[in-house]
Amino acid sequence: MKKSFYITTPIYYVNARPHLGHAYTTIVADVARRFHEMSGMKTFLLTGTDEHGDKIVRAAKKENMTPRAYVDQISGLFRALWPELEISNDAFIRTTDPRHTAVVEQVLQKIYDAGDIYFSEYEGKYCFGCERFYTERELVDGKCPDHETEPETIRESNYFFKMSRYQQWLIDHITENPDFIRPEQYRNEVLAFLREPLEDLCISRPKSRLKWGITLPFDKDFVTYVWFDALINYISAMGYPEGERFAAFWPSVQHLVAKDILKPHGIYWPIMLRAAGIPVYQHLNVHGYWNIDASKMSKSLGNVVEPLELKNIYGLDAFRFFLMRDMAFGRDSSFSESAMVQRINSDLANDLGNLFSRVLAMVHKYFGGIVPEMDPGAEAELGLGLPHDAARAIDAYTEAMEGFAFHKALIAVWEFINQMNKYIDVTAPWELAKKKSTLRQLETLMASFLEGLRIIAGLIYPVMPSTARTMTTHLGLDAQAPFFLLERLRVWKAIPAGIQLPKSITLFPRVETSPRGEEADEDQTVAMKPEISFEDVGRIDLRVATVLRAERIPKAKKLLKLEIDIGEKRTIVAGISESYEPDDLVGKQIIVVANLKPAKLMGVLSQGMLLAAVDESKATVATLDKPVPPGTPLR
Ligand code: ME8
Repeated sequence: MKKSFYITTPIYYVNARPHLGHAYTTIVADVARRFHEMSGMKTFLLTGTDEHGDKIVRAAKKENMTPRAYVDQISGLFRALWPELEISNDAFIRTTDPRHTAVVEQVLQKIYDAGDIYFSEYEGKYCFGCERFYTERELVDGKCPDHETEPETIRESNYFFKMSRYQQWLIDHITENPDFIRPEQYRNEVLAFLREPLEDLCISRPKSRLKWGITLPFDKDFVTYVWFDALINYISAMGYPEGERFAAFWPSVQHLVAKDILKPHGIYWPIMLRAAGIPVYQHLNVHGYWNIDASKMSKSLGNVVEPLELKNIYGLDAFRFFLMRDMAFGRDSSFSESAMVQRINSDLANDLGNLFSRVLAMVHKYFGGIVPEMDPGAEAELGLGLPHDAARAIDAYTEAMEGFAFHKALIAVWEFINQMNKYIDVTAPWELAKKKSTLRQLETLMASFLEGLRIIAGLIYPVMPSTARTMTTHLGLDAQAPFFLLERLRVWKAIPAGIQLPKSITLFPRVETSPRGEEADEDQTVAMKPEISFEDVGRIDLRVATVLRAERIPKAKKLLKLEIDIGEKRTIVAGISESYEPDDLVGKQIIVVANLKPAKLMGVLSQGMLLAAVDESKATVATLDKPVPPGTPLR
């Protein structure tokens, strides 16, 4: 049987219009789904809207609408946005759907019958914004951490879900399945939370206070807590308990959320599933937050341009690419138009776009656009490493994509793109074209470059589906057919010799101006420092070092502690933790100012300083072209 892959996004609250954060998560789900399609799996993508609860009632009132009319309107905006972002969800669930309501009732009844729901009087601090009670421990200076308002003390009888009963089971499950919650930092966060006794969850609201919800099947005077209702969407949409979809896809389910809703997904949901006798999910994938740097967004009509609008300005594929490439999955990232323009110009226009048009232009110039034959003899003469590089890129890409490390997958593809660009420079086809004796080599080279482009088109398909199709069509292949299947990409020779290729096009025009805001212009240039003498340079002892270990420094947001080999072992502290995961650095060769006076940073003695290119808040560590012995000086 074909393996399956089922991915969910959070169902979004309809108290606000869709924004960049919603778009990001749903694009990630789409990318992950398309990648699993490439692996030949049967896939399913679910998204939808969360429509019950206080918050929604208040938002509707503000608009002078009934909750029903209001949720219909906003839910419609979400539903309409996904095709605009080329997201192809297989279903769209709304918590006001009768089929969803029926499943929530069933699950509640099942857990109630099993004895895990009890009735009790409770007095506690209730935040109306969050629609939940807070424990003293969770409040910050007596206030709700999200709304910064003091919760009200209310006393009422309610139904409670015995989560405490499942605490040890959940700890064991997370411990035995290390990638149940990933990346690791979020798994650790959940485990840390579970070190304290888990309190039972209040899962009802009296109808006297809230009517807009699903009535408890065992007490008509109460509706259920919005989270108990919402989480069940992941099974109700699949036809739980008997539906075919549920049987086919539930065993492979993976959830995708941002860090804001880690607790309901990492704690409530697995326990709810366990209590209802439903197998728990495979993975919870948690990403960080996009912070929007409003000062780096250009203005139109006096308003800061909405990040989502940038897709109309720079193109959807470039927008999707930027989101996937610039956020290290799991960590926060800042969104700005200038960062996006830089990415477009360097990665898309320069690296990929140039490679594509260069190769096609040469095939037209030398062979009239007809795909030449590849000759094994000429391949050997050229000593062409491309097939090997392609296979390596596919492996690194696949591993990263499977682990939801999308930025790393794209880095692997771009390494291959840059290798191809380098091959062109090194093999100098224009020289081979001058002599008859090197014609076979030229033919083989061009056919190989076309193959490389075909593989790149396949690999970028999940992130940039439309560019992938355009490239494929220009390589003379059928872009409707599953050109992106990984098993096809692993075959080196797939473009038939002798076919005529269409003329080349520009995939990504360079954005010539800096972003339309004036602020961005100023950011691009950093004033040069005053002139220094040759002797001044000689006083700096620059050395090559190999990173042996890297770790975060607790409580220091920006700092990493690196153990390095610089001919001797040393420790240095570097302010790069917003740009690098510790693991990314281990094994890298870096450049260090070795004779800098040691200094203590956050209690750690730093014996040197690494060199990095620093652009806005991003750091790119300087590395070497080829490995050299640690301690080698730089001149
Ligand atoms: O929490 N950066 O809905 P919600 C990245 N209804 N992602 C962001 C983001 C940002 N700045 N802002 C929002 C709810 N998101 C519940 C979920 S699920 C059973 C119920 C994304 O509309 C991210 O996916 O507040 C986050 O988890 C989600 O929107 C929260 O959406």
